[in-house]
Amino acid sequence: MRLLLGVSGGIAAYKALELVRLATGAGHSVRVIETASAKRFVGSASFAALSGAPVLTSEFERDPLRGSFPGEPLPEHDPASHLALVAAADAFLVAPASANTIAKLAGGLADNLVTSAALAARCPVLVAPAMNTRMLEHPATQANLALLRERGITIIDPGVGRLATHGEHGAGRLAEPAELLAACEAALQTGPWSGRRVLVTAGGTHEPIDAVRYIANRSSGRMGFAIAQAAAARGAEVTVIAANVALPRDRHASYVDVTTAAELAAACDERAPQADVIVMCAAVADFRPAAPRSSKLAREGNAAITLELESTDDILARLARGRRPDQVLVGFAAEHGEGGLARARAKLERKQVDLIAYNDVAQEGIGFDAQDNALTLISANGEQQIPRAPKAQIARELLDAIERLRGESG
Ligand code: CTP
Repeated sequence: MRLLLGVSGGIAAYKALELVRLATGAGHSVRVIETASAKRFVGSASFAALSGAPVLTSEFERDPLRGSFPGEPLPEHDPASHLALVAAADAFLVAPASANTIAKLAGGLADNLVTSAALAARCPVLVAPAMNTRMLEHPATQANLALLRERGITIIDPGVGRLATHGEHGAGRLAEPAELLAACEAALQTGPWSGRRVLVTAGGTHEPIDAVRYIANRSSGRMGFAIAQAAAARGAEVTVIAANVALPRDRHASYVDVTTAAELAAACDERAPQADVIVMCAAVADFRPAAPRSSKLAREGNAAITLELESTDDILARLARGRRPDQVLVGFAAEHGEGGLARARAKLERKQVDLIAYNDVAQEGIGFDAQDNALTLISANGEQQIPRAPKAQIARELLDAIERLRGESG
């Protein structure tokens, strides 16, 4: 999970440090943003050390990580918006949330990075209040919390116990760090992707010519792996069929390694019937050597050789023919240059799929073997542009589009 933590002013900010330690220990990546008053309680250096990433306070500050989370590649371009961070997050937790920050959230104010991020968030937002009992019980605070709940924000109720003010006891203690983390994890498990079975193919196939040579393509598997990671972060049960991908793997997804188009086809045939959503992101060879040699082809003087290629099966089209009516099928169309969009539109019909994600691989910096991508999504209901962004973000927008498609057809 990519957790964005917004820390507002309060003595309980020290507990947010422990939360960062717990979350990173559990394998999540965390970015922290602070309000100016939070810094008076816990300085940015402590959060930066524990999260392994710079801490931002101001909307006007440049993010050295360009909106990415620790362990992820830096996008090649600087995001225009200071809100890139919240766009990339799977969950946004405000902890501790002071009475003042809660009031601002309820009023829709955006006067600092934490409140702006809350307004811009499309991921689940969680708010963990921490304050003096009298402030918590004040009708203004209670009305603000009720309003936030109504809007779908998860309020992590404060506990009862010893408060910061010497000798005071009552409600208003920030929930314990383990509880905060569990609430974030749970928020991701209750969405529409929770338990959904997602099959993603990724990478590019290798078709042997002889014992040591093969025909390949430039696909790195990044886009497919990003889709798998985004779906797993939303609680889906993800299986990735990976064709020659040398990238880090998400421990919440399972992986099947294949080499050739035929192996990829067999792996898909076996697993597709159980899948609710199938995303065919792999660059599958359309042709393979008809008679691969089992030994190494040797040169004979300067004589030219001819390689005969035969067609491979169109896996996606076959899956579409045998599909369950409730399955969603997504194909990719990596087209080169002019006329690409028209060819991609034709694929929607020809392959009988629900969505074609078209990218123009002739464009610099996107598509094959790049960190970024830009897609045009084509469905029977129309077209949608996803502008250039890191593949992790493109993946989340693709999942949102699939979700809308399911909503429209169901
Ligand atoms: N695909 C597939 N099986 C193949 C080739 C492609 O399932 N043998 C899938 C890809 O994973 C992708 C989509 O089909 O989702 C588009 O692939 P592409 O090769 O661009 O499409 P083709 O139908 O081969 O179109 P073209 O006529 O442009 O080659």
